[in-house]
Amino acid sequence: MNKKLIIGNWKMNKNEKEIKSFFDSFSKSKDLNSIKCEYGVAPTFLDLMYTKELFSKNKKMIIASQDAHFEKSGAFTGAVSYQQLKDHGINYSIIGHSERREYFNDTDEVINKKVITLIENDMVPILCVGENLKERSKKKHFKVVAKQLHYDLNNVNIEKAKNIVIAYEPIWAIGTGKSATSEDAIEMAKFIRQELKTLFNEEVAKEIKILYGGSVNDKNVKEYLSNEFVDGALVGGASLDASKFIELLKGAN
Ligand code: 13P
Repeated sequence: MNKKLIIGNWKMNKNEKEIKSFFDSFSKSKDLNSIKCEYGVAPTFLDLMYTKELFSKNKKMIIASQDAHFEKSGAFTGAVSYQQLKDHGINYSIIGHSERREYFNDTDEVINKKVITLIENDMVPILCVGENLKERSKKKHFKVVAKQLHYDLNNVNIEKAKNIVIAYEPIWAIGTGKSATSEDAIEMAKFIRQELKTLFNEEVAKEIKILYGGSVNDKNVKEYLSNEFVDGALVGGASLDASKFIELLKGAN
């Protein structure tokens, strides 16, 4: 079974002082050595390097970006390229989060370019997919997710595809406290794995980690991860507080 992976998506939260206090309480925790899963956090672009430096002695802590631009460099005001991230030792990037799709107009075409660019540069895209409430109530969730996967993973090099991480994040469960049931998460993880077999092959599909995201916290994390189908979680709100995040990571063991 794949080792579980938990990434805390900090979104547009925290300043340096708050990150330092997160670091202090995280690093002082007596429970740190008992955490078996892989873990990381995704701060804003502004705080990536600060966070990376703080955690430099913690070799397990993955520092991920929340987005990346697919062009290497050029006249793209406000953007940060995958190449710049890589130069700074940032090798993971969340791509296609529903908030990016909704508020920044990240289309599947753009997301596909980002995934390909990251993969070609041996970086790890954490590709988010998921349906909204209307689509779920019309029972279109499988169709929506399949469409996203087929668009977003089009022309990805099969030799490197095992590095991809998929995060299933039903939009109606993000930040709402209305989490999907573990059965929903397992059912979708199985479906995604099946689609990945079609897109790539069985061997590659087996290697790709499939996470669940949407109101995961220290109390419910076990429900989602105590099975062989869901390989981890993408966590928003519950990753902001160090002691709660540690509890959550312990629950993922
Ligand atoms: P919440 O855990 O706050 O629901 O956010 C989920 C999310 O969007 C992680 O990317």
